[in-house]
Amino acid sequence: MGTPIHIAAAEPEDLEWCARVMASSEPWITLRRDLEGCRATLVRPGTELFVARAQDLPAGFILVAPYGLAGSPYIACFAVAPEGRGQGIGSRLLRFAEEHFAGREHIFLLVSSFNDRAQRFYRQHGYELIGELKDYIVPGKSELILHKRLP
Ligand SMILES: CC(C)(COP(=O)(O)OP(=O)(O)OC[C@H]1O[C@@H](n2cnc3c(N)ncnc32)[C@H](O)[C@@H]1OP(=O)(O)O)[C@@H](O)C(=O)NCCC(=O)NCCS
Repeated sequence: MGTPIHIAAAEPEDLEWCARVMASSEPWITLRRDLEGCRATLVRPGTELFVARAQDLPAGFILVAPYGLAGSPYIACFAVAPEGRGQGIGSRLLRFAEEHFAGREHIFLLVSSFNDRAQRFYRQHGYELIGELKDYIVPGKSELILHKRLP
């Protein structure tokens, strides 16, 4: 399937690329996370950033917090560049994160109530809705709490 994808810990020079992908994409546009806010998110204490590369160029990233929610792994931020979406790169990144936390039993994430495609993506990967944070980031929108039991 297409170009080989290689996933590894982010290099310092990847940060700006990741922040720009976030800031120019939904759901962060609706969530009003500007470029400065995206840069700050990506260097939050207690997180690890991994980047997927195709032919040495960044194609997507996943930011994880090993003890981010109730002491369990939490996916804090996750995106593929718009031109690379729908080609399996997101699935590879998500599987990478799940394997990174193999043996930790639980993994959590938040998805916005208006982000229908991401909700479907997570459902296809075995994530279940366990709660809703109403008006959590912007008024009138919820953040849905999703959970998956890790093998
Ligand atoms: C969600 C996302 C990371 C998935 O990565 P991806 O590489 O597109 O995913 P894959 O190719 O492995 O899987 C495709 C599935 O992703 C979902 N998807 C979500 N948003 C999508 C988008 N903008 N374009 C294409 N597929 C999208 C679809 O459910 C699609 O399934 P389908 O083929 O049955 O329609 C990526 O689409 C993205 O960056 N979206 C915008 C940012 C976002 O919503 N991040 C999640 C925040 S919680």
